[in-house]
Amino acid sequence: MLAGIMAAKSNARQPHPSEATLQAAAKLASAYLRELDGRNVAPTGAALAALERFHELFPEKPTDPEEVLAQLATIGGPATVTMTGGRYFGFVIGGTLPASLGASWLVSTWDQNSTLRVMSPAVAEIEEVTLRWVCEALGLPVDLEGGFVTCATTANFTALATARQALLGRQGWNVAENGLFGAPEIQVVVSEEVHASILKALNMAGFGQKRVTVVPADAQGRMRADLLPRLDQKTLVCIQAGNVNTGAFDPATEICRRAREHGAWVHVDGAFGLWAGASPKYKHLLKGFELADSWATDAHKWPNSTYDCGIVLVRDGAALRTAMNISAAYLTPGARREPMHHTPEASRRARAVELWAGLKSLGQAGLAELIERTCAHARRFAEGLRGAGYEVLNEVVINQVLVSFGSAEKTTEVIRRIQEDGTCWCGGTVWKGKTAMRISVSSWATTGADVEKSLAAMVRIAKNT
Ligand SMILES: Cc1ncc(COP(=O)(O)O)c(C=O)c1O
Repeated sequence: MLAGIMAAKSNARQPHPSEATLQAAAKLASAYLRELDGRNVAPTGAALAALERFHELFPEKPTDPEEVLAQLATIGGPATVTMTGGRYFGFVIGGTLPASLGASWLVSTWDQNSTLRVMSPAVAEIEEVTLRWVCEALGLPVDLEGGFVTCATTANFTALATARQALLGRQGWNVAENGLFGAPEIQVVVSEEVHASILKALNMAGFGQKRVTVVPADAQGRMRADLLPRLDQKTLVCIQAGNVNTGAFDPATEICRRAREHGAWVHVDGAFGLWAGASPKYKHLLKGFELADSWATDAHKWPNSTYDCGIVLVRDGAALRTAMNISAAYLTPGARREPMHHTPEASRRARAVELWAGLKSLGQAGLAELIERTCAHARRFAEGLRGAGYEVLNEVVINQVLVSFGSAEKTTEVIRRIQEDGTCWCGGTVWKGKTAMRISVSSWATTGADVEKSLAAMVRIAKNT
């Protein structure tokens, strides 16, 4: 009897030391979310000044974890930018869907290393499912291979390293083994509107940023297919689905057709624009992009997954696996897909799980609706600003709007005041020589009321500048 009680007692569930900390984090996180709507989007001067309080000596003695979190929330929280609220329109930054956020907590609790399937069968399986869902959503072939990386820049890099492997392989040169010194030359073709991340990726992949053939773009930033140079089996063409300023799409059908005729490799930088393919209303913009050889995109942008979640997809899985191969006696691959052979990283967080959760919660219909709703908000911004007498510089094809408030000085000052005012947040850019404010509507959290409130603030500030 006594032995039975003892056994029952020792089986009684004891709280794990992390539970109280998680509960404290949940309370602080909920408080943050509840305050979102009333906050300045940019942190106040007082909040920024308080960051100084982080600069203490590395404490000699331990601090209670709940106290650590309380300090983080008190000093760090107010100095965050309200990106997860409905009125952040800077760069191309999405919010976080509730399911992705919840999954992020859970997956952090699981603390899974996603290098090998044997380390985390659950994550390896979910990666496979999510890759297929992403291909389906984007209207790409469902048998592409790929991996989950930090961001579109790394996804671009991974794809370019794969292209390098394949193109040089066709010339009888194994770059993974022999490197680039002495290798046959590869011609790299980019548009004059190429995103900076492609240039960085070209640099990292050993192609060089300046050793490129630059093709002029049209007024919306689309590559001029009629001005492509001669393509051949040693050519890598980088095209774009969604210009970071205008949202415009390169003419993929024509470019991919020419590339296929001559055996060139086409890579698509579709950091956010590829997701327009998830909407029946916008998928016509993606026509032809499915003919490319590799694609890079971000789930932390338009699909509103947690930071960070870049995705690389390639048609030639063998080239990807050769370019990203890693082997060691203790890293024994199994018979199925091994995550570490698809990304530059070995140890990695389980970011695909958060995307899986977000996509599952939305379903195809919800994802399409998110894309269409944010595009409608962008059109409303354009219409409201035009109505107030300001010039919209781009054709608003998806979720990006460029507006000029007059001279470069005036536009820059209006942007500064909008950021300072705190109702919403937009950044600046220069489009075809003209200084502009860039509005990117990329968050599920943006409501019609957020758009009207932000529009009113923009117009009020511009009129008074
Ligand atoms: C077209 C394009 N490519 C690449 C990137 C870089 O994305 P990331 O910051 O995730 O590397 C962006 C960012 O906005 C983009 O718009």
